Amino acid sequence: MAPVSQVLQQAADLFKGMPNWNHPLVMANVIPPANTAAIVAAMMTQVFSPNIIEGEYAWDVERTEMETSAILADLIGWDTNKAGGLFTFGGSGCYFYGIKYALTSCLGMDSRCNGIRTDAKVLVSQQGHYCKMNSTDWTGLGMENFIDIDTDETNAMDFEHLESVVRELHAAGTPIAAIVCTMGTTDAFAVDPIEEIRKLVDELYPLENHPDGVGRPLIYADAVIGWSWLTFKGYEFEANPLGFAPKVLADIEKNYNAISKVVHADAIGCDFHKTGWSTYNCSVVMVRDLHRFQELLSRPGSAYLQARTCYNPGLYTLEVSRSGSYSMAAWATLKFMGYNGFRSILGGILELQHYLRDQVIKNEPTVVCVNEEDSGFVTLFRVYQKFGFKAPSFEDGFLTNLIFIQYLL
Ligand SMILES: Cc1ncc(COP(=O)(O)O)c(C=O)c1O
Repeated sequence: MAPVSQVLQQAADLFKGMPNWNHPLVMANVIPPANTAAIVAAMMTQVFSPNIIEGEYAWDVERTEMETSAILADLIGWDTNKAGGLFTFGGSGCYFYGIKYALTSCLGMDSRCNGIRTDAKVLVSQQGHYCKMNSTDWTGLGMENFIDIDTDETNAMDFEHLESVVRELHAAGTPIAAIVCTMGTTDAFAVDPIEEIRKLVDELYPLENHPDGVGRPLIYADAVIGWSWLTFKGYEFEANPLGFAPKVLADIEKNYNAISKVVHADAIGCDFHKTGWSTYNCSVVMVRDLHRFQELLSRPGSAYLQARTCYNPGLYTLEVSRSGSYSMAAWATLKFMGYNGFRSILGGILELQHYLRDQVIKNEPTVVCVNEEDSGFVTLFRVYQKFGFKAPSFEDGFLTNLIFIQYLL
């Protein structure tokens, strides 16, 4: 045994040497500092252990999952009475849910009872996140069954290539379980042409021919990076009340217009621990039709968990014990930041980014920005050594890629 003070001192020491995400000089990967409301709300769940598997355990904490999902559904432009969301473990967890939903939707309930016996395909762009492998592997579909689609010079999915692959598979009768649209790639913030993809799916697989969805591809939007630009919904771009500089405003509008097309998805992954300044981790997978999701993925209940309230996600979630910390953190974040909090931070980051690109990089002859066209958070620049200076192990002219991700104000 040890006194709690001693254990906590030892625990605190374990954090020594790790990056401090709040420090202005730490800009690694997609990890922002968490906001205070989210930290405290999530910590409350560590004290009281609400389990959001079903309504009776902690109804008001459960409400944070429903309310947060409704707020997001409204931002997306979905019917808030039909859509729903489930908090889960990270963007890869959302993706996993999306692929499982797609497989059940496309291959039917039998695939859940007797296993996946058909090589359905998952189409995803070359620039899509590598967790396409986690999902195809862990669902049992197999990693050989995702097909990489080419990307164009903006890093977005090349629609022509996608269309030819979809038409070929359709003609051959090979089921496509999911088309994954990355709505904001991790670095370049490229957004796939989801509107055209929706039109193509509706043309080749009309709902009338697939009333129960079987045989029809589901569109999953991996919007873990891009979702928060939806908070510009309703922003008066002409009046620009938050006073963004003209170039920044143009980028914000471009990003908002691109991400607003996510309305065409059937399911969407959103990470609050990335572009939501929430605690680590904190993700929600949104589904356009929660009732359908419930019907497709429900299992018989257990002997001791009856449907005592109208909300029983444990009947269809992957997880059994479901921590309330994700939904509490996300709910607290939305309440705390509101539309204008998100807008100020997102726009403020782009203000800094333009300063970095236009004032710092352009004035430094040894540095070149190589992604000027990108309007996301990432600035990629190359630093050339000055001619005549020789570092021990590098040749003259050797260039270093540096990725500068701005998440801090
Ligand atoms: C586009 C994209 N999708 C999915 C993921 C996986 O998310 P997570 O790391 O939260 O599981 C990431 C992570 O960076 C990502 O950038």
